Amino acid sequence: MPRLCLSLTVLVSVALPARAAPVEPSWKYWAQDKWWKEFPQCGGDQQSPVELRPTEDRFWYYGRGPRVRFAKRLKAGRLTATNTGRTLSVTLENDSGEPAVQLKGSRSGLLSSRYTLDNLHLHWNDPAGGRGSEHKMNGAFEQAEAHFVFFNQQYGNVSAALAHVDGLAVVGLLLRPDAALSLSLPTLGLDGDLPRLTQMGSSVTRQVDLRPLRRPLRVALRTFFSYHGSLTTPPCSPAVTWIVHDHPVSIDVPFLQQLRTSMRANTAGTETIQNNWRKLHKLGNRALCKYDRSFLRNWLSCR
Ligand SMILES: *[C@@H]1O[C@H](CO)[C@@H](O)[C@H](O)[C@H]1NC(C)=O
Ligand SMILES: *[C@@H]1O[C@H](CO)[C@@H](O)[C@H](O)[C@H]1NC(C)=O
Ligand SMILES: [Zn+2]
Repeated sequence: MPRLCLSLTVLVSVALPARAAPVEPSWKYWAQDKWWKEFPQCGGDQQSPVELRPTEDRFWYYGRGPRVRFAKRLKAGRLTATNTGRTLSVTLENDSGEPAVQLKGSRSGLLSSRYTLDNLHLHWNDPAGGRGSEHKMNGAFEQAEAHFVFFNQQYGNVSAALAHVDGLAVVGLLLRPDAALSLSLPTLGLDGDLPRLTQMGSSVTRQVDLRPLRRPLRVALRTFFSYHGSLTTPPCSPAVTWIVHDHPVSIDVPFLQQLRTSMRANTAGTETIQNNWRKLHKLGNRALCKYDRSFLRNWLSCR
């Protein structure tokens, strides 16, 4: 026990001086129709989110889909949660500072390379309970959406990866406050962190057991929608292979309620982070694929 407390103290004291003063992003969700003026890629034709609908016929065998790989010693993981002014962003590492999660593609497959988790962040609605997800799936929005953002290891980091079509892979989970769903997003104690993250730019680092993430990510990669798109925030780089699990996943109700009300979106503290989702964009002539890995079968169907 004393060892655990010591390392926690070290983590916190090391993490704080490195933090830069919060800089408010220049863009606002309510002005998203104008993002393209400052960030031209936001006006492109490969934008996200899009509506995800079942695909028709044209099935073919595809081989192995992407697999998720977890670092060793996830039980003593490390988490840093930050109020960016636009979302709750979380980085996850094991106890030696290695990235906690990677995606491994296959030669013939959807992801040609290895991708490393950069951050997990969320999009949500407001307490009135309307739309909060970015993607629309099978005709419906959900109340929130989680994004696990991975960068292609050959580019080294997210900012370098943004310049490449195969730069990023984002695993999306559409979130519904319904405990009866078979899969749930673990809160990882973030509900306990939110009271310390009300100020824009504030951040918390602590130890955490990351093992509860294993099941939802593994299950998400068995059946999903996939298409090529973009970041859903400026600069809207069209660098993303989207992997969106095809069933809603449950989110803890008190956690969702806290998300909707607790974090400030500006340095003055006068705005709250709510409805941090982007409007739908046209799929256009992009392929929308559905991947299904079940017993003895790996199917990809696209339209
Ligand atoms: C953290 O994960 C990496 C990658 O799996 C592994 O090489 C390393 O040994 C792990 N750290 C510890 C202390 O186990
Ligand atoms: C990202 O990688 C590029 C290319 O290797 C490098 O020039 C840049 O400094 C890195 N950026 C960060 C934030 O680490
Ligand atoms: Zn996102």
